[in-house]
Amino acid sequence: MVTVRAPATSANLGSGFDVFGVALNRPADVVHVEKADETTIDVRGVGNQYIPEDPEKNTVGAVARALDAPAHIEIDKGVRPASGLGSSAASAAAAAVALNELYDRERSNEGLVPIAAKGEAVVSGTAHTDNVAPAILGGFTIATDQEITQIETDISVVVCLPEVVVSTREARGVLPERTTIDKVVDTVGKAATLTAGMGRGDPELVGQGMHDTIITPVRSDLIPGYESVRETALEHGATGVTISGAGPAIIAVCHEQNQRAVANVMIDSFADHGVESRAYQTEIGGGAQLC
Ligand code: HSE
Repeated sequence: MVTVRAPATSANLGSGFDVFGVALNRPADVVHVEKADETTIDVRGVGNQYIPEDPEKNTVGAVARALDAPAHIEIDKGVRPASGLGSSAASAAAAAVALNELYDRERSNEGLVPIAAKGEAVVSGTAHTDNVAPAILGGFTIATDQEITQIETDISVVVCLPEVVVSTREARGVLPERTTIDKVVDTVGKAATLTAGMGRGDPELVGQGMHDTIITPVRSDLIPGYESVRETALEHGATGVTISGAGPAIIAVCHEQNQRAVANVMIDSFADHGVESRAYQTEIGGGAQLC
């Protein structure tokens, strides 16, 4: 048996829609694989009742097919589905790394990213790599169709997850089809600022670069209390706040000493809108690991 842990991830980071992603030190999924004649899947853990065990419908089934690696696959979910924290990507990434090891497929970690992305397509309809790239490689990743660039960085974050469900399909359905050149110029500048901040490990620069005027404004309507959670977190030390992935989780970047205060005010602010939530005080961390 091979066991792999793969982390939750936050994609987009505001200015990097469908391109930027970061691995979070926690929460994480753990996947166990054993060789079998045909693929079977057991799911337990957070939100397991919402995840199909049919290999045709489960993200890891697509990964097993892509690697021609039939297995009995057990998934321990630590990342809640429909959270904006790369839940399907964590399972797909862990399965890709585990099956590659189990069957000696000798793919590099970079080579496993498009394999894991096939699992994403099962769930969201799009094989986007902005969650699976950091889930496999760790750190901050810039994923385009042509290449994936990974930057190790040390940035503290708070991720606040409300008891609200937003599916990636739904959140992609509200996206604008067109935008203006002013917004494109602004977003390019912010994305460059964020990338420089990641390279320097500078939470102020990263925070400045998280602002986005194209995607986040339309998606924030799907998250009750988004604006006040964001403003309160900024008032209490966050250097940048935006929607994590497709939401509803909200990610705040901050200096380590402000994590607790930021986490507390985000939870309180959601509660003011009648929404329960939990916060993870974590860091940008490593990718999928054999256990
Ligand atoms: N970039 C994707 C989106 C991530 O925002 O739709 C989904 O987790």
